[in-house]
Amino acid sequence: MNQNQLKKLVGKKSVEWVENKMVVGLGTGSTVKFMVDELGRRVKEEKLDIIGVTTSNVTAKQATELGIPLKSVDEVSHIDLTIDGADEISTDFQGIKGGGAALLFEKIVATNSSKNMWIVDESKLVNKLGAFPLPVEVVPYGSQKIFDRFEQNGLNPTFRKKIDGGLLLTDSDNYIIDLHLGTIDHPHELANYLNKQVGVVEHGLFLDTVDTVIVGRQDGPQVLQA
Ligand code: A5P
Repeated sequence: MNQNQLKKLVGKKSVEWVENKMVVGLGTGSTVKFMVDELGRRVKEEKLDIIGVTTSNVTAKQATELGIPLKSVDEVSHIDLTIDGADEISTDFQGIKGGGAALLFEKIVATNSSKNMWIVDESKLVNKLGAFPLPVEVVPYGSQKIFDRFEQNGLNPTFRKKIDGGLLLTDSDNYIIDLHLGTIDHPHELANYLNKQVGVVEHGLFLDTVDTVIVGRQDGPQVLQA
């Protein structure tokens, strides 16, 4: 199986955890796309009765087209389960997310969910986080100052750009600065540092968040409990 087939495998598998009457957080990304397809199929064919809470405009569009009823995070009393992708997951179940620039809404939805499940192909599992550049969402005003500070602190920042070369804007009209760190030895310390920077809206370290990981492996999906 190629990477895309592994993503499809775990995307479909994860929907087995969704039950009638659940409020389900819907993540973002190419793996989640397969999950939302399968959820849409169950809503249509099995009359599965759920409410989705999306984490990006892209997922909201897909879910709407598939007829999945949606509410915003502020309209629901709780979220039972959020299913999302990840860019890296370490052996101690910490994660980097935001490769698709949706980290802010993803973290808001994850934080308000009773359970969080991540679905990944096996290439996302790592010993230590950091080979994947860590996304940091920043307010445009003053973003060059934050960038300079990151550079002085040796965090190897780059502004994320669109294909046309302009700066990428998130769904909340912020910029993304990617930190090229190589390895992250102390993720909680780094998260604390980033949380204190004025102008940083959110960062892609998702620590102590996930309950269940489904890994797409050549011999089938593997379910890991954190
Ligand atoms: C979106 O901002 C991300 O957090 C995604 O969940 C993550 O990048 C995984 O995406 P893929 O499933 O496309 O690899």
